Amino acid sequence: MLEPRNKKKNGIGSHQSSKMKNDEWLTPPEIINALGPFDLDPCSPINRPWDTASTHFSKVENGLTKDWFGRVWCNPPYGDQSKVWLEKLAAHKNGIALIFARTETTTFFDWAWEKAYGMLFIRGRLSFYTVEGIKAKANSGGPSVLIAFNESNFNSLIKSGIKGQIINLNLNKKYLKTIEPINEESFETSELNPI
Ligand SMILES: C[S@@+](CC[C@H](N)C(=O)[O-])C[C@H]1O[C@@H](n2cnc3c(N)ncnc32)[C@H](O)[C@@H]1O
Repeated sequence: MLEPRNKKKNGIGSHQSSKMKNDEWLTPPEIINALGPFDLDPCSPINRPWDTASTHFSKVENGLTKDWFGRVWCNPPYGDQSKVWLEKLAAHKNGIALIFARTETTTFFDWAWEKAYGMLFIRGRLSFYTVEGIKAKANSGGPSVLIAFNESNFNSLIKSGIKGQIINLNLNKKYLKTIEPINEESFETSELNPI
C-alpha cells in the first residue's frame, strides 16, 4: 500500500506563481548584486528594505504607465499580471526579468520563449524576502528563471555566477528558421488546455 504523501510545506509559491498570496515578495539581494547595477525597477514596493536600482516605481506611481529607461530589473507582480510587465520589458529589451519557470503557459510562450535573447534556469528554489527584509521561512515552492532580452543582459547572466542552466534562445531562433513548418492539425494538444 502506498504511504500517504508527506504533508505539503507551505512554500510561498505553492508550486504555482498564481497561488502566491500577495505580490510583496522581494528578490534575494544576492541575485540583484550578481546581476546589477540596474537603472530602473518599475515594480517596486512602496517601502523597500534595499535598493534594486537607481530609480524605483511603486504602485503609487504605477510603473506600467511610465516610460522605462536604461537597464531595467523586473520581478513583476505574480500570476496573470506578469504578462503585461514581460510584454513591456520585451519591447524595451534592455533588462532582465525574474519569473516562475512556468514554461508551459501562454505568457511564457508569448513573451519568454518567443522574445527572450536567453535565459538562466536557476538551480533549486529561491527564498524570497518580505518588505521588512526578512527571508521567507519556506522557499518559493517552484522553479525560477532569469530572462534577458538582449545580448548585453544575456552576458550578465553568463557572468553572474548564479547556479543554473543557461540557454541562448537567439541561437535557437537561427536553427528554428531552417525547420519546415509541420502540419499543425496533428499537434493540437497545446490548445486543449491553454493557460
Ligand atoms: C514580486 S515583487 C518584486 C519587488 C522588487 N521589484 C524586487 O525585485 O524585489 C512585485 C512588486 O510590484 C509592485 N507592484 C504591483 N503593481 C505595481 C504597479 N502597477 N506599479 C509599480 N509596482 C507595482 C508590488 O507592490 C511588489 O512590490
